[in-house]
Amino acid sequence: MITILGGTGNVGGKTAEIILNSGSKLRIIARHQDKLSHFAEKGAEIMAGDAKEPNFLTSAFKDSDVVMTMIPGDWQTNNFAKHQDDISNSIITAIKQSGINKIVFISSVGGHTEEKTGVVAGLARHEKLLNKLDNIDVVILRPTYFMENFFGSIPIIKTMNINGGVLSPEIAFPIIATKDIAQVASKYLLSPNFSGVSIRALLGPRNYTMRESTKILGSAIGKPDLQYIQLKPQEVISSMTGMGVSENVAKSMVTLMVSMNEGLFNYEERNELTTTSTFLEEFSSVFAYVYNQ
Ligand SMILES: NC(=O)c1ccc[n+]([C@@H]2O[C@H](COP(=O)([O-])OP(=O)(O)OC[C@H]3O[C@@H](n4cnc5c(N)ncnc54)[C@H](OP(=O)(O)O)[C@@H]3O)[C@@H](O)[C@H]2O)c1
Repeated sequence: MITILGGTGNVGGKTAEIILNSGSKLRIIARHQDKLSHFAEKGAEIMAGDAKEPNFLTSAFKDSDVVMTMIPGDWQTNNFAKHQDDISNSIITAIKQSGINKIVFISSVGGHTEEKTGVVAGLARHEKLLNKLDNIDVVILRPTYFMENFFGSIPIIKTMNINGGVLSPEIAFPIIATKDIAQVASKYLLSPNFSGVSIRALLGPRNYTMRESTKILGSAIGKPDLQYIQLKPQEVISSMTGMGVSENVAKSMVTLMVSMNEGLFNYEERNELTTTSTFLEEFSSVFAYVYNQ
């Protein structure tokens, strides 16, 4: 039995599809029944509930050969660190109570430190807790910035005809398609013969600047001259809160972006194991499809 916490999301959903296509037994955990039903129809066992409930999570993990875990966000909370720690502690309790001993955890680049990592800090704290567990084999995947994050630029492109954010236009950093994360994660889930605690960063095919990314995505939507404008942290915080994100989360995200401008996402080494195949040029057709909906 392969179990995926967050199995209806970007990474979890794509991983779930690969596992189902392989014919293996799959259990999916998430809160919303409507999205889970899609996977139930394809043969997955579904468990609807909140990952903050350790007893629910224990029963959802039970009898699994391997579990993929993550700490999903809550963009409305006024205390993102507590939100992350509540899920983190619940996962650790459920690991202990259920007796499972193989985990694939979706962390993030930046998961090596809590310092100035904003929304990633809770993942770094969870990595530390996983490291302290006895008799558990863990693969910690540290993917970089998702290409899917660019969907968040669609409103500003549509309303102001620019792309913009806190990230520098000039600093190149790694970007990854979530389907590449799913490919790697599913290999560990289908052959869970790993032992001890290992960490693997996932960095996409190469580094891109925001200016270059904007040009690639702009070309895909018929706007080859689309400009990227660097915005001040406070401008981005105001814009995010205007869209319903809590001030606490907006500040935490901006903290991460400022650190990315200082090189945080260039910390991991690019090599054969960390480089994945999907270029932004290929992903841009997915972006155009979503943009045109
Ligand atoms: N975005 C990035 O650039 C980036 C980069 C590196 C790492 N990451 C990490 O990657 C992880 C996966 O990202 P993603 O984009 O795949 O996430 P996502 O699309 O937001 O999916 C989150 C999944 O978790 C479920 N979920 C949310 N809250 C839950 C709760 N309280 N209890 C149970 N299930 C819950 C969601 O379904 P329901 O809403 O129905 O519960 C969904 O299935 C994130 O957690 C983040 O830490 C992100």
